Amino acid sequence: MDEPRTITESDLARIGEIVSEQSGQKWAMIPLLQRIQDEFGYIPPQSIPLMARKLRLFPSQVQGVISFYTQLYTEPRGKKVVRVCRGTACHVRGGKTVLKLVKQQLDIGEGETTPDLEYTLETVACIGVCALAPNIVVADHVHGHMNPKKVELLFKHREVGE
Ligand code: FES
Repeated sequence: MDEPRTITESDLARIGEIVSEQSGQKWAMIPLLQRIQDEFGYIPPQSIPLMARKLRLFPSQVQGVISFYTQLYTEPRGKKVVRVCRGTACHVRGGKTVLKLVKQQLDIGEGETTPDLEYTLETVACIGVCALAPNIVVADHVHGHMNPKKVELLFKHREVGE
């Protein structure tokens, strides 16, 4: 199993370069955060003090902005994001069981990422295809009419604890 990616000295140097290219204006914070996330897949916490210094803010202010936006992450994410629908239509057709089975297959909980950084598990309110309930989305691909067998097939290449 691959170890989660750790931030190296050269990563920190690269983050320093990205930060130094910015104007230092406070309005530049969101583009800066997005740029770092695009490059690293998340915003390494080590980058926050560098950004704060450049933007003349407290690190807590940068952290506050990151916390506000649900699309910004300070932890590594999986290559594939699995979204299990918790909407009403999916719920009444077994969505809770589907979520339980996906958790078992991936051996992670909601909001968590597998140690090999393959999958991140999330839940969503409704993905807009209620007629196919219960649904899950894996890497932006909708899988409808989910049942225990389909969940197993979807992740069958994956062995818990591999
Ligand atoms: S409730 Fe699940 S897709 Fe709408």
